[in-house]
Amino acid sequence: MAGKIPEETIQQIKQSLDITEVIGDYVQLKKQGRNFFGLCPFHGENSPSFSVSPDKQIYHCFGCGAGGNVFSFLTEIENISFQEAVGKLAERAGIAADVSIPAESRSQPVSKEHDQMMKAHELLAKFYHHLLLNTAEGQEALDYLEKRGFSKNDLETFQIGWSLPNWDFTAKFLQKRGFTLEWMEKAGLIIRKEEDGNYFDRFRGRIMFPLHDEKGKVVAFSGRALHEEKPKYLNSPETPVFNKSRLLYNFHRARPAIRKQHGAVLFEGFADVIAAAGAGVEAGIATMGTSLTDAHIQQIKRTADQVIICYDGDSAGIQAAFRASGLLEGSGCDVKVALIPDKMDPDDYIKKHGAEKFRNNIIGTAMTLMAFKMEYYKQGKNLQDEAQKLHYIEEVVAEVAKLKKAVERDYYLRQIADQFSLSLDALKQQEKQLFFKERKKQPPNERTFQPASAPQMQKRLYPAFQTAERRLIAHMLKDADTAYKVKELLSGETFNLDEHQAIFTYLLGFYEGGNMPDSSAFISFLPNANLCRLVSDIEMMMVSEVVNDEEVHDYIKEIFKYRKILEIKAKKQRQVTAEKAKDYQTAAQIAMEIVKLKKELR
Ligand code: UTP
Ligand code: MN
Repeated sequence: MAGKIPEETIQQIKQSLDITEVIGDYVQLKKQGRNFFGLCPFHGENSPSFSVSPDKQIYHCFGCGAGGNVFSFLTEIENISFQEAVGKLAERAGIAADVSIPAESRSQPVSKEHDQMMKAHELLAKFYHHLLLNTAEGQEALDYLEKRGFSKNDLETFQIGWSLPNWDFTAKFLQKRGFTLEWMEKAGLIIRKEEDGNYFDRFRGRIMFPLHDEKGKVVAFSGRALHEEKPKYLNSPETPVFNKSRLLYNFHRARPAIRKQHGAVLFEGFADVIAAAGAGVEAGIATMGTSLTDAHIQQIKRTADQVIICYDGDSAGIQAAFRASGLLEGSGCDVKVALIPDKMDPDDYIKKHGAEKFRNNIIGTAMTLMAFKMEYYKQGKNLQDEAQKLHYIEEVVAEVAKLKKAVERDYYLRQIADQFSLSLDALKQQEKQLFFKERKKQPPNERTFQPASAPQMQKRLYPAFQTAERRLIAHMLKDADTAYKVKELLSGETFNLDEHQAIFTYLLGFYEGGNMPDSSAFISFLPNANLCRLVSDIEMMMVSEVVNDEEVHDYIKEIFKYRKILEIKAKKQRQVTAEKAKDYQTAAQIAMEIVKLKKELR
């Protein structure tokens, strides 16, 4: 095992990983306000009291007190040493760390087979890309892509390539480089012929789109026909490294934009994702020709919980958007729908109207889900026909009844009343009946969407001095100057709780070592898990961003006050003993001291 891991390496690893993603591999997390919540993996529970703060990069369980940063999470959950946790996270972040990990504790012992599959994809993606850009064989495909509006930059960013129309070029290419063909067949890159057992290429004469996993590793391909061959898009089959119902195209590239904008833009086709990125919409992702699954939704929700659905404008696209919106909404996402006019797909629209119109008039004016549903139910109906019109109104009012907010229900009912010259009262009547029917269908705990942990946080009551000490620590974690001020005010005295005093001492050392406030980094600085837990617990407390002098003084007063209370208690004990011993003089003396102390308390 290597010696002490350099601080910079630890910092670097921490900066390139997001704690919610690492924890997201073990715990299903749901975003709620600034934090994520889920069921604690460290103790059995039915309502989520485990929370993760992406801002602070720490986690904490209000149920069992577990808590810490990304390193302590991994050490606890995998039951490994700190060194091993650093090694694993370094690997995940793609950072070279001089830490040797015992083979038996690697997360998935990366088999040779798996390793070859990944290497082959990476190598082929590079090679296909080269064929497209730099060879005569790739010229026709390159011309086609340019005519379609793909820029050089698009081709490079998305590593688009070209596979030669030969029968066994890829098979030979792989064989020459020492890849085991049997494994390459399992990876979906080549196919074995029944008759003679020879291998031939799956992708021949196709424009190659590499598909990356969420870590940015190529795990599959989709090959588009250059002409009218069928299928238009040929995808890699399901393989040990590619799961179609999980992979979201472009997720690894879009993630920072999704996080920054608090939302993703979901497209139907990956050609749309590429066109949208070229038009400045960076948060675009797409499923691989399958409908949206729960796994997709969970992955999106780990990064953001708003989704703009931007599917094709034809009726199949609208139908698919309706289905996807229902699933996303059902899982607690905030959903909007951007409709493309004239049955175009986003790619066509961008080509025809340009990037700016796409951003402003399509993405920028995405409708609320209810507005979209009102459009959706119009499909295939002739609203001039009285019976069809009534049917439409019924469907729409039923949707309105499902809305959670009264103002929203009112808003849409007014809109419907206006549009069809109906009495608002009559509509409200109908909506109310549906509304109560809807409520009854739902189990009571789903009626209002509330994380269990929010009230739980408030539930615990501490004595005043303890609350004061906790709050002081919370503020000192945010600001070094506050820590120095507290040191001065305590003038040699200590916090009442030993753990609080220990945290205070370490925190001063941390700041004196030139560190900036960073709770996650500070946690790595602490010597034991107990203190880590306590810090994460305190950090999850809501305190104001800044603290004024008066507040600090008040907290310090609480700390001193508790001292006196303890002193009084001790003296009372002694008073009782003296009285029992009939030492009335001493008892009277103590009584006077108590009165004095009590006066000071006020
Ligand atoms: P589309 O047919 O809408 O493709 O299929 P597109 O994005 O408009 O592509 P271009 O503009 O014609 O090149 C949408 C998605 O469905 C999947 C692909 O993932 C595609 O991005 N698909 C489509 C397939 O998997 N196979 C097919 O044969 C067709
Ligand atoms: Mn298209």
